[in-house]
Order: sequence, then C-alpha cells, then structure tokens
Amino acid sequence: MLKAVILIGGPQKGTRFRPLSLDIPKPLFPVAGLPLIQHHIEACILLKNLGEILLIGFYPSNQIEPFVNEMQRIYNITIKYLQEYTALGTAGGLFHFRDQIRCGNPDAFFVLNGDVCADFQLEYLYEFHNNNPNALVSMMYTEATKQQSLNFGCMVIDKKTNEVAHYVEKPCSYVSAYINCGIYVFSLDIFQTIGEVFSNKQSDLFKPDSSNGNREASHMQLENEILARLSGTGKFFGLHVDTWWSQLKTAGSAIYANRHYLELYKKAANRKFHSHGKGDEVLCTVIPDIYVDSTAIVDPSAVIGPNVSIGPGVVVGAGVRIQESIVLANAVIEDHSLVLHSIIGTQSRIGKWARVEGTPTDPDPNKPFAKMENLPLFNRDGRLNPSITILGCRVSVPSETILLNSIVLPNKELARSIKNEIIL
Ligand code: GDD
Repeated sequence: MLKAVILIGGPQKGTRFRPLSLDIPKPLFPVAGLPLIQHHIEACILLKNLGEILLIGFYPSNQIEPFVNEMQRIYNITIKYLQEYTALGTAGGLFHFRDQIRCGNPDAFFVLNGDVCADFQLEYLYEFHNNNPNALVSMMYTEATKQQSLNFGCMVIDKKTNEVAHYVEKPCSYVSAYINCGIYVFSLDIFQTIGEVFSNKQSDLFKPDSSNGNREASHMQLENEILARLSGTGKFFGLHVDTWWSQLKTAGSAIYANRHYLELYKKAANRKFHSHGKGDEVLCTVIPDIYVDSTAIVDPSAVIGPNVSIGPGVVVGAGVRIQESIVLANAVIEDHSLVLHSIIGTQSRIGKWARVEGTPTDPDPNKPFAKMENLPLFNRDGRLNPSITILGCRVSVPSETILLNSIVLPNKELARSIKNEIIL
C-alpha cells in the first residue's frame, strides 16, 4: 500500500499571491476549473494501490475540511487534513505526524509540495525508486536557467547511478541547473534520519549559544536539514523529468498553470475531469483550450479562448471576448467587454464595453529550460512590474473604462480607468 502527503503550508505563506489569497487559501485557488491541490489528488489517485492521502498544513481546519470532505466524496478514498499547531517547516510536519503516515505500514509514501503544478507521473517515480534498493528518497528534478536555479534546491547528479552527489537549497552562487521539483517518494526508514536531526536539534537547544531564534523547536526543513545531509550517501536519487513543471507563487503563474493543466487534461482521457465545458454543447465561439463550469451562462455571441477557465455561476454577456484569463465564481462580464491576461475575482462585475488587460509573465521562450519568473510586485525604481491584471472579489468596474496591468483589492468600486496601479 502507498500513501501520499501534500504539504499545503498556511496563511502567512502565499503572500505573493495576494489579493487572491485574501479570499481563499492558495491551495484551493481554482486553476483549470479545479482547486490547485485537486490536481495533486488527481495525480495520486492514478497510483495503483494508494491507501490514503494526507494534507499537512497550518491553515485553520474550517478552511480546509469542507474541501477534504468533498474530495473524499468524489474520489472515494481516505483523505485527511492534519493541522500543524504552528508552521513546522517542510519536514517538521512529516515528523510530527509520523505515526499517521506509518499507520497501516505503507511500502512508501509520496510527498508533494502543494504549490507546484506539473504532469506529476508518480507511478514512474515509484518505479524509479524501487529500482534503487538502497534509496531512502527519490526526487524528481528538472532543469532551469543558470540564473533561475538560485531560487530552487540545486543538485549535482551522478549520471551513471542517478545518485544525488551534492544538494544545496537556494544557493548564493551557481551550483547546478538541475533543480528540485518538490515531488518525492520516501521509504519509511526516512523517519530514522529525520528523528536523528530532530534529536540533535533538541539537544542543541540547551546549548548556551543556541541560535534557534524564535522558531518552534520542532521546525525542520526537509531541504536544508534532510536532503542536503543525505546527498552523497548512496540513499538519495534523482529522476530527471522534462515534462511541464512550474510553481504557483504569484497570480501571474496561475494563468500559465491554467494553460498547461487545460492542455494536460485534454490529452489524459483516463482522468475524471475534462476541459470541454458543458459536455459537447457549443456555448459560443470557442478557441481551445477552455474550461467552462456547467452552471456558467455564456452568451452565444461571446468568443472565449484560448486558455480560459470560467467558474460556477459566471455570466458572460453578448459580444464579450475573453482570452488567457481565469474568471472566478459568480463574476459578471457585461456585453462587449474584453478580458485579456487577467484574473477576475469572485462576484466581480465588469460593465459594458470595458477593457481589462494585463501583461503575460510567461517564461522566456528564447531561453531553453526557462521557468516562470516570479517577479516581485515592484521593480528597482519602485514601479509596478508589468503583470497580469487582478481584480479581487466583489470589485466593480464601470462601463467604458480601461484597466491595464493593475491590481485591485477586494470590494472596490472603481470610478475611472487605471493603468499600472494598485488600488488599495
Ligand atoms: N505543512 C507545511 N508546513 N507546509 C509547508 C510549510 C510548513 O511549515 N512551509 C512550507 N510548506 C509548503 C508550502 O506551502 C509549499 O507548498 C511547499 O511546502 C514548499 O515550501 P516553500 O517554503 O514555499 O519552498 P519553495 O517553494 O521556495 O522551495 C521548495 O520547492 C521548490 C520547488 O517548487 C524547495 O523544496 C525547493 O528546493 C524546490 O526547488
């Protein structure tokens, strides 16, 4: 039997995802019509012999439990939310809940970072893990540009054995362009290693020069404290993948992930979810790929796509054009408006003949292996970096206005056109 753990973090993580995370926890933000971590669950249930999925994080349980119940109903598999009492880090939660993970004696367990988006191929990773009998952990890795690699866990791989010879988390200078995808499979013996690190840390706490700061004593980082220690021991292996992989850190990366998940689901006929909209019914002029929730109402004269997801209860008026965008539940886009490279928040309303437009922040197509740049909001001159336009929930945009490269916080009633602004 196998288990899977999804690390979902908690409220103070995902701040770069504001204002979208003000309304909904980032792991539940809909991408291609499904909450972000439902894509992980979809990948897990494809595993043969999967016994249980555990979500570990520090969101209040009332924010996650309804989702967990819904997932259990859809997939008919045990899914539990294990809430950390405070942020315990990427290994602290695994160790804290080790009895829950070991319960039923699984052969191995997967760990997936909740904010990665990918063609997960977990069965392939498990096969790879089993081919190395000494492996305590096997990890997917991919390639980034030299410059971008500094933002990830980097590793040197022995190409003959696939062993991770050296691992550095977010190095200060270039180590390797091979980066950790945040997708792992562990043997149960890993708890011995984590336990040793835990015990060493506990005894360090009593030393006079202990530098733990204000951190919780059980806080442990999988990357710095476990993976780096295992490199070069013959127990840590890397599987190279060159399929699509990305992180979801900023709102801009949601549009990019939306496109790739829509494409992925089109190909994967065995998945439960398809991106056809209302079955085979033609809603309006469609430029694939799109996802339209079955409860959305779209005027037949609208033109939608490519790369558009439309949530439940959305109303799209006559002559509307939407491209490269996510429209969240119960938003209304009135007649003849244009929405391009934007995220429209829940219950927002865009008046007639309005234009809501952002700038895509896709990886540089001219750089091989380039990943999504998670640019900060402001550049060095203190100006807003051009990015997608985001309307928080319940924003109202008047008719005949233009919104360009802007971010509008929830509950705002705009009265004019805006360009490169944040409306607080
Ligand atoms: N349960 C729990 N508790 N989850 C956590 C905690 C915690 O205290 N801290 C972070 N997480 C979750 C986050 O929500 C995220 O899904 C995942 O763990 C990764 O944590 P980050 O701290 O955001 O790390 P990162 O994304 O900058 O880097 C990690 O992922 C990269 C791939 O996306 C590292 O593993 C890198 O090496 C890796 O390249």
